Amino acid sequence: MDKVTYNGMNFVPYITNETIQERISDLAGRIEKEYEGRSPLFLCVLNGAFPFAADLFRAVNLDSEISFIRLKSYEGTSTTGKIKEVLGLTENLEGRDIIVVEDIVDTGRTISKLVEDLKAKNPASVRVATLLFKPAAEQCGVVPDYVGFEIPTKFIIGFGLDLDGKARNLRDIYVLEGN
Ligand code: IMP
Ligand code: MG
Repeated sequence: MDKVTYNGMNFVPYITNETIQERISDLAGRIEKEYEGRSPLFLCVLNGAFPFAADLFRAVNLDSEISFIRLKSYEGTSTTGKIKEVLGLTENLEGRDIIVVEDIVDTGRTISKLVEDLKAKNPASVRVATLLFKPAAEQCGVVPDYVGFEIPTKFIIGFGLDLDGKARNLRDIYVLEGN
């Protein structure tokens, strides 16, 4: 695991894939216990959450299902963006136990709007699993139920997280050097 460079910026190793997998296994164990006898529907929030969702979904030994949604930002793509619209949701969520799978919760704006929209579709429950959580950032009243790692407010890439669309394919997570 060496330093990587994107857009002239250096990123240094932060969380190894092995550590990520161990944590996913812990979270999967909790989900199995808490959803015993039920069939949760995992909702992977594209693009960033796909590696986490794939590994978490396979690690959970339940009769579960997975689907994919995308959020359209009305204003840019930054975390300052306004209201987001849910795209691609075709399932009937009524009475379902939903586990939203996110890569990272930063300000919490994205996830709070999404949870609100999902709850309006009368599911039995909605919980949030996020690989990364920046608790120091301003929160919108949403506390994720399953958190892989709590991290300080630093910019990270890899394992699904991108910098201008790049670096999602890195198997480990890297942090901006000097950040
Ligand atoms: P929130 O609405 O502020 O919670 O925004 C979360 C979204 O911002 C994530 O789904 C990511 O797309 C993006 N994001 C936040 N922090 C980072 C980061 O450190 N690296 C890459 N993307 C990030
Ligand atoms: Mg995301």
